[in-house]
Amino acid sequence: MNLDLHQIHLIQSSFERVLPQFDLTAEQFYARLFELEPGFVTLFREDRRVQGRKLMKMILMVVNSLQDFNTLRGQLLALGQRHINYGVMPDYFPTMGQALIDTLAARVGPTFDDETRQAWEQLFALVAETTIEGMAS
Ligand code: HEM
Repeated sequence: MNLDLHQIHLIQSSFERVLPQFDLTAEQFYARLFELEPGFVTLFREDRRVQGRKLMKMILMVVNSLQDFNTLRGQLLALGQRHINYGVMPDYFPTMGQALIDTLAARVGPTFDDETRQAWEQLFALVAETTIEGMAS
């Protein structure tokens, strides 16, 4: 794991701030994702609220497992395998990362500073890399 303890703290404390508005954050995330790439709308078949809760819970699991990357790695490889069936391609990930980070920045407000953004970018790159690895296995 290439994140240091300070970055882990920045990620966990910023995510804690959006947790009380779980559904709203998920809703805003999808709005941003489909604004960036309207073509993604047709990929999602499940009820948006149900899907949004699954996504937020997965992010919470990631954020809470940052000190135990081995467990996290296994979960992400399995997540990647499931994503093959969802019609997701590896090059879709950067847009997803941008939508997530834009949403967090908007919801957290001014305390979501450059250092926090960079920590999330590093985390998302690592998560995407492992999930994509799972898609290939
Ligand atoms: C590493 C980043 C990602 C994470 C953490 C993530 C997380 C999740 C989770 C937790 C689910 C619920 C079902 C399951 O657990 O298998 C899911 C489903 C899904 N994800 Fe992802 N995902 C990621 C990347 C992507 C990308 C890049 C796309 C495409 C733009 C995508 C599209 C979908 C679709 C289409 C579904 C199925 C839901 C439906 O049928 O409505 N995901 N994702």
